Amino acid sequence: MSTLPPGSVHGPVDTTATGMSPALEIDDIQSGALHERPSPYVGTYLLLKVHEPADGRELIRRLIPLLQPGRELTEPGLGAWLTVAFTYEGLKVLGVPQDSLDSFAPEFQQGMAARAAEIGDVGANSPEHWEKPLGTSDVHIALAALSPDAAHLDAVVDRARRAQEQMPGVEVVWRQDCYQLPTGRTSFGFKDGIGQPTVEGAGTPPTNRGELPIKAGEFILGYPDETGGMAPVPTPDVLGRNGTYIVFRKLHTRVAAYRQYLHDKARTREEEALLGAKMVGRWQSGAPLALAPDEDDPALGADPARNNDFGYATDLRGFTCPAGSHARRANPRDSLDHENSVDVRLHRMIRRGTSYGPPLPDGVLEDDGEDRGIIFVFAGAHLKRQFEFVKTQWLNDGIFIGAPDEKDPLVGATDGSSPFTIPQHPIRRRLPDVPPFVVTRGGEYCFAPGLRALRWLADLTT
Ligand code: HEM
Repeated sequence: MSTLPPGSVHGPVDTTATGMSPALEIDDIQSGALHERPSPYVGTYLLLKVHEPADGRELIRRLIPLLQPGRELTEPGLGAWLTVAFTYEGLKVLGVPQDSLDSFAPEFQQGMAARAAEIGDVGANSPEHWEKPLGTSDVHIALAALSPDAAHLDAVVDRARRAQEQMPGVEVVWRQDCYQLPTGRTSFGFKDGIGQPTVEGAGTPPTNRGELPIKAGEFILGYPDETGGMAPVPTPDVLGRNGTYIVFRKLHTRVAAYRQYLHDKARTREEEALLGAKMVGRWQSGAPLALAPDEDDPALGADPARNNDFGYATDLRGFTCPAGSHARRANPRDSLDHENSVDVRLHRMIRRGTSYGPPLPDGVLEDDGEDRGIIFVFAGAHLKRQFEFVKTQWLNDGIFIGAPDEKDPLVGATDGSSPFTIPQHPIRRRLPDVPPFVVTRGGEYCFAPGLRALRWLADLTT
């Protein structure tokens, strides 16, 4: 877990003389965005519908003391992080004035369901098949609580629920529990959450020496970003500043289908593991192919000082790590440096994914009918050029890697006819007809405001 160097981040300092970016107001930024989730973790997501705006605002007022911005869970008295975020409909119901609503990013105003065709949520992934009420105008407030242990989580969720129960005008319309699987991995068997950007000024040490820290304005509204400008900050400033956009998606993983596919394509267990690693870009332990080309290296996978410290510049043709692998598509790192048209730093994202559902026991190749998968959570200042760009241009489209008919082999919006190419000597290997391994069960675009903004929302009188 990250630690904050003393004095480096609490409160703004005058940086105009140094040319540095202004310091992050960590005490005003909700924890969910800048802090790694604990490991192990248990968590709960609640979605609320506001029937009575006054009750909704009172609930916000009561939740504020439960939020722990910028603090470590290890500090005495803390045990769980609560994050609160709002959909566009939610802000509207709470009484945010129209000119202010109009100042939010257009994609946020439209909502994820309306963007479905754009981001590849089609066919079995389309909103008509989503779990209700995801993607409907009934979702107003999203609450996420994460803790290292169930006792602390229950205590915080109970307090949040008590606050909600006293507000008859606010209804819990959806709940999803999540927890770290005993293996510490996701349902496909891979360690996740390793590749993260280092946010300038957030106090977390860089894990990839090849990537300078990314400007805070790429993730938190109100600060300079990588373009030298600033993402549009919703107005009034007190509402937008220190907020961040959140993408929340429930993604069902078809683990049996994934295992069966690899089983069919490989002759040995070792080859199965290699094909799986080629699809992801990392071995199951988290060890990157770029550093461990031939076999898994669990010690490397477990070492935070080494497991993200790599690039692809010496492997442009993908002989070690295929350009079409999930992690390399999602963050091509230095492999696009020679192509001046794309600046990878403009498409980075903070991910805060968690697992839900029981693991499929080892070795089982038949589907057991259980719902299992990932709650994918993105935090960033740019829904369009970060989440939507990566999803559409890099995961769902193969043009940028010179393979227009290929999609991300793990999470791409595929109809089952997409191939996956593994460059190798003397001839490449082409896996045909990769079935869809991930199904979208629903999601929302949300806005997680800063603490001052939450007080402003609670004080609205309209
Ligand atoms: C069920 C769906 C998904 C699964 C199982 C999954 C799994 C993984 C795994 C195993 C890794 C490698 C470990 C790591 O670097 O942290 C990874 C990396 C990553 N994934 Fe996903 N992922 C999913 C969906 C997505 C989606 C929808 C996006 C973006 C729109 C995404 C973006 C990323 C990014 C940015 C990285 C880090 C790449 C890097 O920095 O090297 N993933 N994912």
